[in-house]
Amino acid sequence: MPDGHELLAGDEPVLRVPARPADINAGGDIFGGWIMSQVDIAGSIPAVALAQGRVVTVAVQRLVFLKPVKVGDLVSLYARVESVGRTSIRVAVEVYVHRRLSPPEFIHVCEAELTYVAIDEQGKPRPVPKSAG
Ligand SMILES: CC(C)(COP(=O)(O)OP(=O)(O)OC[C@H]1O[C@@H](n2cnc3c(N)ncnc32)[C@H](O)[C@@H]1OP(=O)(O)O)[C@@H](O)C(=O)NCCC(=O)NCCS
Repeated sequence: MPDGHELLAGDEPVLRVPARPADINAGGDIFGGWIMSQVDIAGSIPAVALAQGRVVTVAVQRLVFLKPVKVGDLVSLYARVESVGRTSIRVAVEVYVHRRLSPPEFIHVCEAELTYVAIDEQGKPRPVPKSAG
């Protein structure tokens, strides 16, 4: 990442999504709940791949909004598996935006850590496949 932060997931975002006018809060910036939702989706992507099946979010350990997100920003979410338990997977998510200014800016706006649990057909925890760890 250009501003010196640690690279995540080979420097490729797992998710890239535009921030739209429908997602603003009363102050005119993007609603934090919308960003949290994108963070949850992004974190689940490597968790599902590792679990080789369904996961649910069990906890958000940390979520920090560093800078506001503006309408028109292109939001890029990077996610990396931090640790794997028996049935749980902890994922770090970093959120950056491309802002179309002159010159364009790439801004670190949010960071989070979440835990997902691999579940079976009954919604019960199941072991993360060994080959995955
Ligand atoms: C996630 C869920 C299946 C876990 O079921 P459970 O019977 O509590 O399972 P366990 O106590 O065996 O915990 C399963 C794993 O989750 C971890 N875990 C449970 N609560 C946790 C918490 N608050 N924070 C971090 N990890 C937690 C456990 O440490 C365990 O990890 P491990 O197997 O790697 O050691 C259940 O709590 C659930 O269905 N929650 C709702 C999930 C949901 O609806 N999410 C929102 C939409 S995706």
